[in-house]
Amino acid sequence: MSVAEDVSLGSVRGRLEALGQEHLLAFFDELDAQQQAALLAQIASIDLESMPELIETYVTNPQSHALASDLEPAPYYALRETGPGSWDPAEFRAAGEQLLREGKIAAFTVAGGQGTRLGFDGPKGTYPGSAVRKRPLFACLAEWITAAQSRFGATIPWYVMTSPINHADTVAFFESNRHFGLGEENVMFFSQGVLPSIGMATGKLLLANKHEVAANPDGHGGSLKALHASGAIADMRSRGVEHISYVQIDNPLAKVIDPVFLGLHASAPDSSGQMSSKMVAKTEPSEKVGVFTRSAGKTTVVEYSDLPAKLAEARRADGGLQFNAGSIAIHAIGVGFVETLNAGGRFALPLHRAEKKVPHIDLGTGERVTPDSPNAVKLEAFVFDALPLCENSIVLETDRIEEFAPIKNAEGTDSPATSSRIQTERAARWLELAGVDVPRDLQGECECVLEISPLTAMTPEELRERELPGEIERGAEVSV
Ligand code: UD1
Repeated sequence: MSVAEDVSLGSVRGRLEALGQEHLLAFFDELDAQQQAALLAQIASIDLESMPELIETYVTNPQSHALASDLEPAPYYALRETGPGSWDPAEFRAAGEQLLREGKIAAFTVAGGQGTRLGFDGPKGTYPGSAVRKRPLFACLAEWITAAQSRFGATIPWYVMTSPINHADTVAFFESNRHFGLGEENVMFFSQGVLPSIGMATGKLLLANKHEVAANPDGHGGSLKALHASGAIADMRSRGVEHISYVQIDNPLAKVIDPVFLGLHASAPDSSGQMSSKMVAKTEPSEKVGVFTRSAGKTTVVEYSDLPAKLAEARRADGGLQFNAGSIAIHAIGVGFVETLNAGGRFALPLHRAEKKVPHIDLGTGERVTPDSPNAVKLEAFVFDALPLCENSIVLETDRIEEFAPIKNAEGTDSPATSSRIQTERAARWLELAGVDVPRDLQGECECVLEISPLTAMTPEELRERELPGEIERGAEVSV
């Protein structure tokens, strides 16, 4: 957009005035042409007309959401269920494999975040996440897709959601890695939307700089909107894709394509095929994962920060946690369901508000101020808020060592170090099942670092077919 297009300036000003937000142009005349263009383009990209309702709902008159009084743990397909009522993974694996062979599955990764919490400068997907080869997180997921394509003899298109903060860097990274051999035509990128920060006391949008509105990515829930708005859903339809396998970029062990899960999602008698989820048993009451619950017959995730300690700590008669189904943010989603969520041009997911300290330009002085207490409301959508909108949503238990090794923080829990340990433990289990000696200390901890590429094996059974060392040396770093 060019500033010469006075009409645009006029129309943007007119829209802002109608909404009482014209202060966003307060410094317009001081800006150079490029900054003016950037500001107009940014404002034009914001859904301004929905602002009054958002401001009323989340800033002026926010409702506190009490937890449902009928909240109970969600039922799930247990990992090792035996006896009456047990289920047969083989039956659902066959159904999932059929969908894959027919090219009805797409992979989808939300990667809108920067590596800020990790102290890493760049899109999180470019972080070297695998334990031994230090492959970038994007490459870890790409290897699963490549391996699955060759197993099932069909293309699995990959949709990658970025954010305005990292879109260009992400696309450049894929280009310089030749799209990991997946073919440029089978990897589609699109950016999620942003939502402006709103002054808590004023209900006014804030300027982060004189040429920039303070805004943040609209949360991973925004992916269900962006999938539709970007044309990704239309692209899936044109390819005959029916279901989407959703993973977050921060988990290098995610089974990007899991036939059993996809089969259950699409064909279990109690699944509406709209949106399904994977869970792991929580390690402790305070673990920072959302938990699967049920209320009024609907599956819902209650975020860790919203689960009262009393419920988080409640125990069953057998001593296990009552609310033990932790979300690992892996979902299977029907293409038709995403269309429903966007029907009539209105996106169905609610937003979550967080009160934050947002640096901004003081309109009186023109100076940038950094507040020392929360001054603004930031809004985000959470992907799991789509679950209660399903007719029937199922949950599948999985083993955390098999597929949950997130990298979120530089140190402590969910860090590169803990992820490397989990990746090593999974590889050790698979190698031991294949008859390889793995050095362990007296507590059973591996005394080596291990990694198995999905290109070598996607399951322990496949690993057994490969040529493997007889033993791993103490202290060795081995990748197979
Ligand atoms: C999230 C879940 C939590 C779950 C845990 C499992 C939320 C609020 N909570 O926690 O229930 O148990 O993961 O690991 O999500 N992302 C975007 N765009 C955004 C925001 C996030 O693409 O606008 C992506 C990030 O790149 C990241 C992922 O979503 O990979 C997770 O987001 P994050 O905010 O780190 O969620 P967590 O608090 O880790």
